[in-house]
Amino acid sequence: MPNPNRIYPSILACDFSKVADEVRRCESAGCDGLHLDVMDGHFVPNLTIGPDVARAVRASGATTLDCHLMVTDPRSAAKWFAASGVDSITFHIEVSPDPAAVAGAIRKLGKNVGISLNPDTPASAIRAALPHVDNVLVMTVFPGFGGQSFIQSCLPKIREIRDMGFAGDLQVDGGINEETAALCAAAGANVFIAGTFLFKSTDMASTMRRMRARVDAARGAVTGAQN
Ligand code: DX5
Ligand code: ZN
Repeated sequence: MPNPNRIYPSILACDFSKVADEVRRCESAGCDGLHLDVMDGHFVPNLTIGPDVARAVRASGATTLDCHLMVTDPRSAAKWFAASGVDSITFHIEVSPDPAAVAGAIRKLGKNVGISLNPDTPASAIRAALPHVDNVLVMTVFPGFGGQSFIQSCLPKIREIRDMGFAGDLQVDGGINEETAALCAAAGANVFIAGTFLFKSTDMASTMRRMRARVDAARGAVTGAQN
């Protein structure tokens, strides 16, 4: 059975002056989960969400919380965010010389685990980690800020990771809209993280429906779509 397509709004693009309303807006628009971008000012030149904000997002009615750690010390951060009630935790290969150990530590916290790679990191860098993770997050912009343009040259990496035999969830993150999501779906992605595109839309529910139709069609069109 292929993994279902899922759409996760990235809360980084929300209006933080009314975060609870924004969470409810995503949930009632039919999102499959919410994506939390955690930045520490070291791994990336930006500082964002802490565990207390994650807790507030959860308390506002988020059903599934997917935490993306863009930090130099993922093991410490994973503990804090696990305690704040997230469901899955993704760390970056660029700061994890022993990814199996980090993945094991996150699993011990009772969370699903993901590994992410930057646009300039080759797919081969995560090959050995694949048996230890539930999902892979392919960055389609350089991490640090929302609202950037999709980097087209990241597309082949998605297929490469599928060709390595990875059958878990494959997320794409950065510059995702209905067009770029369809390109990623055709390459083998099934989880579409979108910030600016969804939050800037006046009717998030219909935007999400359109996006879903596009990715379903793109994946259906791939001969023998296994993942
Ligand atoms: C970038 C973050 C993304 C970002 C996506 O560092 O990991 O999740 O919020 O935002 P958009 O969809 O605006 O590119
Ligand atoms: Zn992210």
